[in-house]
Amino acid sequence: MEKKRGSFTNKLGFVLAAAGSAVGLGNLWRFPYLAAKHGGGIFLLVYLIIAVTFGFALMITEIALGRKTRLSAIGAYDALDKRFKFMGYLSSAVPFIITPYYCVIGGWVLKYLVVFLTNNVSSAAADGYFENYIAQPAAPVIFFLIYVLIGCVVVMLGVEGGIEKASRIMMPVLVIISIVVSVFSIMQPGAWEGVKYYLLPDFSRFSATTVLAAMGQLFYSMSLAMGIMITYGSYMKKENHLEQSVRQIEIFDTGIAFMAGLMIIPAVFAFSGGSEEALGKGPGLMFVTLPKVFENMKFGTVIGAVFFLLVLFAALTSSISLTETLVSIVRDRLGWGRKKASAVILVFLCVVGIPVSLGFGIWDFIAPMGMSLLDFCDFVSNSVMMPIVAIISCLFVGFVIKPKAIIDEVEVNGPFKMKKFYTIIIKYIAPVCLVAILIFAIMEAMGMITV
Ligand code: TRP
Repeated sequence: MEKKRGSFTNKLGFVLAAAGSAVGLGNLWRFPYLAAKHGGGIFLLVYLIIAVTFGFALMITEIALGRKTRLSAIGAYDALDKRFKFMGYLSSAVPFIITPYYCVIGGWVLKYLVVFLTNNVSSAAADGYFENYIAQPAAPVIFFLIYVLIGCVVVMLGVEGGIEKASRIMMPVLVIISIVVSVFSIMQPGAWEGVKYYLLPDFSRFSATTVLAAMGQLFYSMSLAMGIMITYGSYMKKENHLEQSVRQIEIFDTGIAFMAGLMIIPAVFAFSGGSEEALGKGPGLMFVTLPKVFENMKFGTVIGAVFFLLVLFAALTSSISLTETLVSIVRDRLGWGRKKASAVILVFLCVVGIPVSLGFGIWDFIAPMGMSLLDFCDFVSNSVMMPIVAIISCLFVGFVIKPKAIIDEVEVNGPFKMKKFYTIIIKYIAPVCLVAILIFAIMEAMGMITV
């Protein structure tokens, strides 16, 4: 296994690959709707604080674990301490919950691309279009299936190389389009209120839920607490600067999420007023608001089509690497070939994804804890499992293998500037805060307290 392990050619290659995995629907779709729902500026502030503290510490930890052991999650935990092998399994279970619903949203994006390509912008911009669409029994399922199939075919053929090249071109284009669209959004009459809502924190909106939402989003967006970064780390060369790379990945990922919020939130104010209802739309926010922006924009149809193409692309690169993760877990555990494992994963994605899609329409009676199936999967993975994985991995590093093990790995590339800060966070601050927030949030979800 040792000698077959490839590695990224250089540091930029590593940063781009990790950022390519990190940037996806999490940044473009999930971040803006959470920010809108959880008070705008206060959410942004909390997110930024957690990103430079917990996010930084956890990403360093995961990448260093991978680079140190040269193994992916299950093997890495096992190699360091037999008793923690379960952590490998627990973190590997997370992408099994995320991928199916990720592909359902991928299908929505594909549908919107088709709508823009066929020049139906005004219908997509009409009130209620999105809600009616996702409640249909057939169309969303068909788009989901097409989306899943594209991803699985790529994984089966193993053409990720070409995708990586394409992302080097498409990611910068995405950044430019986001800037154009956000400038346009901000210039709409009434949008300025939205800019203020997004940038100025309102401390009265602060609560444990804000922190939990921000934390779940951080894990999701940076692909943390699910073993992915351990795998990426295992491909990283010893001479690449670990601390610096982590900082760059974080800046890139957070920057794109920030821009997505700037595109969408001011537009919510301009086109739907800044009402609680408009801001609290949830998963549909991007699909409801952006068509209204494009409808009012000169060349909006073209720009909208290009925009959804890029979102589709960012989503595909992420879901392909998610699917690839599932396939490689199945292959490693069961010793199956690539084709067989991909086919089984394809079936799995359909079996879970189709009910998730139907959960917005004919199967909406399936509502665990009062949530739609999609929200429920999202809640279980992002608000429950990922914090648990994060807590245990902090304790594992803090008290079992000791922070020094990670610090030594980082210091292969020279002094670890933030090592005191890192040690305090990983040993004390992160575990205590994570436990408190998790308990609070679960109590809230079960209706035991209201915030
Ligand atoms: N971080 C990705 C996003 O923001 C989603 C994601 C989570 C992911 N886990 C992953 C992508 C694993 C690739 C691999 O959309």
